[in-house]
Amino acid sequence: MLSIAKSALRPSLARAFAAPASSASLHTLPDLPYAYNALEPYISEDIMKLHHTKHHQTYVNGLNAAEQSYAKAPSVRDQIALQSALKFNGGGHINHTLFWKNLSPVNADGGKLTDGPLKKAIERDFGSVETFKKSFNAATAAIQGSGWGWLGYNSASKTLEIVTTANQDPLLSHTPIIGVDIWEHAFYLQYKNVKPDYLNAIWNVINFKEAEQRLAEATK
Ligand SMILES: [Fe+2]
Repeated sequence: MLSIAKSALRPSLARAFAAPASSASLHTLPDLPYAYNALEPYISEDIMKLHHTKHHQTYVNGLNAAEQSYAKAPSVRDQIALQSALKFNGGGHINHTLFWKNLSPVNADGGKLTDGPLKKAIERDFGSVETFKKSFNAATAAIQGSGWGWLGYNSASKTLEIVTTANQDPLLSHTPIIGVDIWEHAFYLQYKNVKPDYLNAIWNVINFKEAEQRLAEATK
């Protein structure tokens, strides 16, 4: 009886252990939900093409490679040595996947924050939408080196907060509602070194509907 039970368990155990290795090849570059030129004039076609097909693709490739190495790593020491590659490339993949979805062309309601729960929460926590954007841009422009600016939901205080992360670190302390890529590859071809111009422009193509959905999920 015992041996039957044991052998019955084996296939599921085998699947459980195989999961990291097989899922390692599953990460793929998601399609953009709009055309490369759809965010012009605020974000140029050149930037979008390069950013999506080269930069994001590189994080996807790096994540797959790191996961495959991790699955084959012969010791805990070797697994630990792969942690930074997993964090960097995995963060790069999930941050960019979120970023594409939180942008939207102007003719598809990009930049439009209509009356509703998100606008209400922003006004409650920042005073006004304009003050929020100003504070967000100031905090994000002040990031030294590469990183991300976030509007995040703090589930402990039940408030929206502006947070920044360095490199490709994903936002873990809050639920991400809006994320803005402040790596030079996100703006340099069009805005050169003038980060504030990029940050002012991006609000014209922020997908507030998507942001409102994320807030609804976070506050369920
Ligand atoms: Fe990026």
